[in-house]
Amino acid sequence: MNRVFIKTYGCQMNERDSEQVASSLRDRGYSVVDNEFDADVVLLNTCSVRDQAEQKAIGKAGYLAKRKKTDPNFMIGVMGCMAQNRGSELLERLPDLDLVVGTQRFHAVPDHLDHLVQSYAAQGPRPSSIVDLDEEADSQNTIKDHLPKDNQVRAFVSIMQGCNMNCAFCIVPKTRGSERSRPMEHIVEEIEELAERGVKEVTLLGQIVTSYGRREFPVVGGKSPFVQLIEKVNDIAGIERIRFTSPHPRGFKQDLVEAYRDVPKLCEYVHLPLQAGCNKTLRAMNRPYTKERYREIVESLRAVAPDMYFSTDIIVGFPGETAADFEESAEFFEDIGFDMSYIFKYSIRSGTLAADMNDQVPTGEKERRNQVLLDILSKRSLWRNQQLVGKTEEVLVEGPAKKGDRFTGKTRGYRNALFDGDERLIGQLVQLKVDRATASSIYGDLVLAGVDID
Ligand code: 5AD
Repeated sequence: MNRVFIKTYGCQMNERDSEQVASSLRDRGYSVVDNEFDADVVLLNTCSVRDQAEQKAIGKAGYLAKRKKTDPNFMIGVMGCMAQNRGSELLERLPDLDLVVGTQRFHAVPDHLDHLVQSYAAQGPRPSSIVDLDEEADSQNTIKDHLPKDNQVRAFVSIMQGCNMNCAFCIVPKTRGSERSRPMEHIVEEIEELAERGVKEVTLLGQIVTSYGRREFPVVGGKSPFVQLIEKVNDIAGIERIRFTSPHPRGFKQDLVEAYRDVPKLCEYVHLPLQAGCNKTLRAMNRPYTKERYREIVESLRAVAPDMYFSTDIIVGFPGETAADFEESAEFFEDIGFDMSYIFKYSIRSGTLAADMNDQVPTGEKERRNQVLLDILSKRSLWRNQQLVGKTEEVLVEGPAKKGDRFTGKTRGYRNALFDGDERLIGQLVQLKVDRATASSIYGDLVLAGVDID
């Protein structure tokens, strides 16, 4: 009864939380397997950002529950955002769930599973479900260091939890609670350990990383706590690349812009959520900036790092977004020139401000707007990759690609690179002479002079 499979939905924060749960379960003697069929326990780590994400996980849990008929000791748990958002109501819908664990209680999963395993082993009546959705003071400090997998080159590091903004569309403040930051020295220690184990690239994670430590730590020499943290990570031997996600335009100040000039390991890539390129819609969304301010940030970044790559989140069909508002947004989206973007069709989240707004946009119209942005994005993305043909790019080798026999890695601009490689290159920075590009990847040959393949 000790084989656990964890399925993760949603964002990188969820990926990171799943890694932590996996690591704590291994420490407790469980074996974490890579598919549901070999598992005695399946844990779904869920997302609530859109209804579709919740429905997917609910569907999966329902499907898994059928297995209890033939295998009564099979256990199913739901963790994370949907657990927090829907709470014990989930059990009404899915009475076969054994475990429901919220976003501040991931570290309690091994205890709960131990308890359930014992109860099942006693072969009495089916043990009652455990629901643990408590808020936990200092839960940011329960984020324990975790071991990277073998050969893991990139790692996510959680630096804070929660969100104090009040975007009209967003359920996250409810699912993740209010903002709490981890102490800088804990984060630095964790990254030092990751570096010792061969990790070369870290992505600092938080709902709004630009708010990191703003109540806990002072500004020093004009630098925000977040920029101070980036500088400290830059000093860690073995770490070659730093990224973060996600900043908020409101907190994106000159000190962070200058970090792209002054901090060598900080990659020329930023994921900066726009949400809408029309001031009327931004206002309705409760996003406290204008498109002019957003453009100013983009321009100041291009001024210090001309090769900067931009990625964003944008929502189409927010309530009240007219066809003309959308046109304005799409034009701005094209104008900025995003190299990557997540495009979301607005989804009503009950309990948020926008859920009760008039003028909801019909599904078909959301589809259309979605497609318009996708077309702009794929054109731009192809163009950007084509600019690299004939050039040499630094690539961090990650390992064999999922399909085919090529190897894969990322450039500093987070472009996906495919090339003939070798196991011994994993974790190394190599030079790639680019000879071909698609919208999603660049292809080429490695320039191997000076690379260590002993
Ligand atoms: N509908 C659609 N997209 C949403 N997002 C957040 N809430 C919603 C919603 N109700 C998007 C935002 C956010 C990303 C993680 O998800 O763009 O940045």
